[in-house]
Amino acid sequence: MSISNDEGRVNVMKEPILQMENISKHFGLTVALDHVDLTVYPGEIRGLIGENGSGKSTISSIAAGMQQATEGTMKFRGKNWVPKSMTDALEHGVGMVVQERGTIGGISVAENIFLGNIDQFGRGCLIDRRKMNRAAKEILALVGMDEVNPSMPMVSLDMQDRKLIEIAKVVAKKPDIFVVDETTTALSQRGRKKIYELMKEQKANDRSVLFISHDLEELMEVCDTLTVLRDGKLIKNLAKEEFDEEEIKQLMVGRELKGDYYRSDHDGSCDEEVVLKIEHANYKDKLRDLSLELHRGEILGVGGLSSCGMHTLGKALFGAVQLESGRVSVFGGTQITSEKKAMEHRIGYVSKDRDTEALNMDASIMDNISIAALAKLARHGIVTRGNERKLVEEQVKSLSIKCRETKQSVAELSGGNKQKVVFGKWIGCDSEILILDCPTRGVDIGVKQAMYQLIYRMKKEGKAILIISEELAELIGMSDRLIIMKDGRISGEVMRSGELNESDVIGYMI
Ligand SMILES: Nc1ncnc2c1ncn2[C@@H]1O[C@H](COP(=O)(O)OP(=O)(O)O)[C@@H](O)[C@H]1O
Ligand SMILES: [Mg+2]
Repeated sequence: MSISNDEGRVNVMKEPILQMENISKHFGLTVALDHVDLTVYPGEIRGLIGENGSGKSTISSIAAGMQQATEGTMKFRGKNWVPKSMTDALEHGVGMVVQERGTIGGISVAENIFLGNIDQFGRGCLIDRRKMNRAAKEILALVGMDEVNPSMPMVSLDMQDRKLIEIAKVVAKKPDIFVVDETTTALSQRGRKKIYELMKEQKANDRSVLFISHDLEELMEVCDTLTVLRDGKLIKNLAKEEFDEEEIKQLMVGRELKGDYYRSDHDGSCDEEVVLKIEHANYKDKLRDLSLELHRGEILGVGGLSSCGMHTLGKALFGAVQLESGRVSVFGGTQITSEKKAMEHRIGYVSKDRDTEALNMDASIMDNISIAALAKLARHGIVTRGNERKLVEEQVKSLSIKCRETKQSVAELSGGNKQKVVFGKWIGCDSEILILDCPTRGVDIGVKQAMYQLIYRMKKEGKAILIISEELAELIGMSDRLIIMKDGRISGEVMRSGELNESDVIGYMI
């Protein structure tokens, strides 16, 4: 037996809590899991890592009763484990915080917490709301939200607080296994701190955690053991002393990632021709007398703290924000006053919030990619299905979008593949100017590398690209020129060079 398969060496002396053996899961022709074994020991924080679509959510949701395996067996504390539902699993020791939003906006905080169990507060045919709210307050205290009024409607809370309530609801049951699926990305420093505390508490009480995150650094820090999945297969189990960032990345993508994955040249030159410019723009406290020019063949990076105005700048350049004063214009002088105008002038925009803004979740991959290209397809006013299919299939192939068929709904795709669809949509219509707001956020390294290569290729083809990002390394790695914003203004500008590092630019941000 190889060392790497020596599961959870921290606790080999103890009996496992959960044993999943030979688990497979099929969705039609998609094999989401292919004979995976997973064993979790008491007091273990086990991390699951793998690219989008590798099966992390599927395996953990099977353990937590959300869905059933096509094949395989599970044992919990030595007995057969066949949870009928998530509620059933939680009652018996496995509680999961899901990746998607799991609370209901229209009802109160307390009702959300006791959803499905409200009867316990029954008094005759009425509900004892006082009692329910008091019990809810105790649960809220678990995540430091004692101040929240339990009778408030859930919609009045922000994303982070809603996530924290889901977490509280699960930990209140003191599960033997606490499953956390990609939750930390939705949390700020405060929320993250809280969840790490809760995880430590699990461990201290000899209970366990199954932790899924996109952040490799975070996983290496908090986990005792890591399981790498790829394409639904178990690739390797690693104990803490074996953690090695480069090796893990390689295991995830199944091939060697050559050096750094940004472009390797230091040539920051581009055409002199200005293709897009914004002049003396003002918008609330987000843009203050801001002027900027983007050139043909240029990759212009824009960085700063998330509140500095850079996301508003991206929207303004795409005509999606009505400036209070100032103007945005394209090569030739036409003013961009709406998204429609922007698209007519071959400007593409990848929004930071891709689920709600960039994609139509009810539509297929085909429709999402072809929508922006319809004008191009409509030679002589007619769009043939054949042309449309050809364009979409080209994009699916060149971006290696992992899907069953192009008619599949985008809602079914994993995060990274959704993002590729957004890219495909704008590339497919021959955008000359691309505005990319956090294009690689939440996307795993294999897909990231493909995107960087694509962005560089577009530069070489003479397109103009503006990348807005919260990741300095990415901006330094990719940009010809880098602008830093602070409080709605440009606070610094640096040119591409081999010597540039993060500390050179951080000073402009704060
Ligand atoms: N309900 C579903 N219907 C069809 N395919 C699904 C469904 N859930 C997951 N899949 C597919 O199974 C694979 C694994 O998905 P998932 O477990 O969500 O990956 P991860 O969490 O690692 O990103 C992906 O190819 C995904 O598209
Ligand atoms: Mg997932």
